[in-house]
Amino acid sequence: MKLFNFILHCGFVSLCWCRLNEEVTVASANEWIGPQTQCFHGSQENCPPLSDPCRCKKVSNNSVVCCNVDKDSLNITCGNSKMDTILNLHIRNATLDVLNITSATWRQLISLAITDGYIGEVAGEFGKLTKISCLNFSSNSITKFANRSLVNLFNLSVLDLSHNNLSVIPRFKKDGIVSLDVSDNEQLLCDPLFEALKGTELHFMNENDTSCLSPRTFHWFNTTELVPLREVISVHELRNECSFNCSCEPYRLDIVIGKPPTISVLVNCSGLQLMSLPPVLPPNTIVLNISNNNISSLDAMNDEPSYQHLRQLYADNNEITSILPLEGTNFFTNFVVLSLRNNKLKSLPTYILSNVFDRNNNFQHVNLGLNKLQCDCNTAKVLKEWLLAKQKHIPDYEEIYCDNIKSRVLDLDPSKLCQSQQDWTDYIYYIIIAEVLLLVFLIAKVSYDYWVFKTAGYLPWPASQMPKLPCDWLCE
Ligand SMILES: *[C@@H]1O[C@H](CO)[C@@H](O)[C@H](O)[C@H]1NC(C)=O
Ligand SMILES: *[C@@H]1O[C@H](CO)[C@@H](O)[C@H](O)[C@H]1NC(C)=O
Ligand SMILES: *[C@@H]1O[C@H](CO)[C@@H](O)[C@H](O)[C@H]1NC(C)=O
Ligand SMILES: *[C@@H]1O[C@H](CO)[C@@H](O)[C@H](O)[C@H]1NC(C)=O
Ligand SMILES: *[C@@H]1O[C@H](CO)[C@@H](O)[C@H](O)[C@H]1NC(C)=O
Ligand SMILES: *[C@@H]1O[C@H](CO)[C@@H](O)[C@H](O)[C@H]1NC(C)=O
Ligand SMILES: *[C@@H]1O[C@H](CO)[C@@H](O)[C@H](O)[C@H]1NC(C)=O
Ligand SMILES: *[C@@H]1O[C@H](CO)[C@@H](O)[C@H](O)[C@H]1NC(C)=O
Ligand SMILES: *[C@@H]1O[C@H](CO)[C@@H](O)[C@H](O)[C@H]1NC(C)=O
Ligand SMILES: *[C@@H]1O[C@H](CO)[C@@H](O)[C@H](O)[C@H]1NC(C)=O
Ligand SMILES: *[C@@H]1O[C@H](CO)[C@@H](O)[C@H](O)[C@H]1NC(C)=O
Ligand SMILES: *[C@@H]1O[C@H](CO)[C@@H](O)[C@H](O)[C@H]1NC(C)=O
Repeated sequence: MKLFNFILHCGFVSLCWCRLNEEVTVASANEWIGPQTQCFHGSQENCPPLSDPCRCKKVSNNSVVCCNVDKDSLNITCGNSKMDTILNLHIRNATLDVLNITSATWRQLISLAITDGYIGEVAGEFGKLTKISCLNFSSNSITKFANRSLVNLFNLSVLDLSHNNLSVIPRFKKDGIVSLDVSDNEQLLCDPLFEALKGTELHFMNENDTSCLSPRTFHWFNTTELVPLREVISVHELRNECSFNCSCEPYRLDIVIGKPPTISVLVNCSGLQLMSLPPVLPPNTIVLNISNNNISSLDAMNDEPSYQHLRQLYADNNEITSILPLEGTNFFTNFVVLSLRNNKLKSLPTYILSNVFDRNNNFQHVNLGLNKLQCDCNTAKVLKEWLLAKQKHIPDYEEIYCDNIKSRVLDLDPSKLCQSQQDWTDYIYYIIIAEVLLLVFLIAKVSYDYWVFKTAGYLPWPASQMPKLPCDWLCE
């Protein structure tokens, strides 16, 4: 009775599997049906008793379970089953240093599960006509697969590699939908995960238990950090759907204690003939490159919230006329690099830059070379000194030119440029000298008149012609 139940159960399982398989085939033509896909799974109780030298057991017409096998005891057909009738195989607790899968044995299988054992590595490759569509290698401490192990599995739709010790996801077919479970592989690197995402349409099972180590090959911190799969997927999607024909790349891992790490983004819009800034940036954009475009104004940065994380702006070779729109923006108080080489800046409002340089903790770089400013005496006297004082912040300070004078700002000679101002002050001096002379003349004339009046008793002209004034009695 028990045995009967048992067979019924297993038959049911395999029946389920076959139906499932049908559904998956249909699904690939239409739409994804969901992550509840399971490979044929024989439970522990299906195992033959330990006393039985044959470790495998037929549990239905086309399903076999093998348990506690090693290199020598694995004989799938020993349990009275013919190899070519087996469609579903589950091997539990296999102990093998190397599992070599190059074998015609697997060819007709549809579901293969080798789980809950110890397998050091997987060698060889499944043959060309292997039909396997559900493959479960869960819980085996597998550290690596041979490069081409799985590439011939054209019917693969479910691949479970969870609870192993993989650092790299083995390559598998490039097109179609595949459900992949790579949860609980603590050594898994993020880069191969990005690679895998590029190929097929992947649906992750146990997504919340999946994470990867940030690889050293990004511009990332050298500490390895666990990045949740969700974050990796969002970056992948960002890469594919980067707006305005720009390219989006992960830039670095941002770690805030108490929060899951986030990946900050570099957006590269260089050379796209843009006339204005991208109106919106992807979330967490920290670097924006808009070099080699025809952008004339930075106004859009003023109140666009998606610009608030920006720390580096590269806008060389554009038509930008002023940096004033940056004043008061979040970017301007927090930036690290602002590059405006070869633009159309006419003046440099030194006060707003000084404010930022003096106040900030970050060390800030501003590139301003190859701009042609409107130069005058003030440029020669004030700006030149300012550039020399701020040269650490403005690495290309020597390459700033004048538009109206053929000269670098640094070569301006204040004594020449400020000539006209000199003339004007000279003129003031002449007036002062003339006034002093006039005063001296008046004093001399009054003294002479007094002397004549005292000695000769009359007033010389013009004092004699003056009408009598009420105050004259004072003199008399
Ligand atoms: C693979 O095997 C593991 C453990 O035996 C099981 O938990 C898991 O559900 C199986 N995965 C699939 C896709 O059948
Ligand atoms: C299993 O195979 C036997 C003999 O080949 C056949 O009589 C029986 O109907 C099969 N059972 C199922 C469930 O297919
Ligand atoms: C796995 O199989 C080995 C023999 O190959 C056996 O010694 C061990 O007890 C088995 N482990 C489990 C959990 O059944
Ligand atoms: C596997 O078992 C079958 C049936 O018991 C036997 O005929 C065959 O020789 C065995 N194969 C190996 C490789 O031991
Ligand atoms: C795997 O087995 C095949 C054939 O049995 C053999 O040619 C191949 O060299 C083996 N590969 C490894 C890595 O052992
Ligand atoms: C795996 O194969 C690919 C393509 O054939 C090749 O580029 C890559 O270097 C191989 N990797 C290893 C580890 O052999
Ligand atoms: C395997 O895929 C081929 C085409 O790629 C298809 O014709 C065949 O029916 C599939 N087999 C199974 C068992 O799904
Ligand atoms: C996983 O592999 C690393 C080396 O790659 C090893 O140090 C570690 O012990 C392994 N972990 C398990 C659970 O096998
Ligand atoms: C995974 O995590 C997200 C967010 O934490 C949660 O909304 C979702 O329900 C989780 N999914 C599963 C299957 O636990
Ligand atoms: C990066 O590695 C170097 C040496 O390998 C070490 O000195 C430095 O502290 C590390 N930085 C971080 C952020 O871990
Ligand atoms: C993106 O580039 C394509 C082809 O180069 C062009 O047709 C399209 O208008 C561009 N889209 C935007 C938003 O610039
Ligand atoms: C941006 O794209 C341009 C051309 O597409 C490329 O030359 C440049 O290296 C890229 N810059 C960055 C920082 O990715």
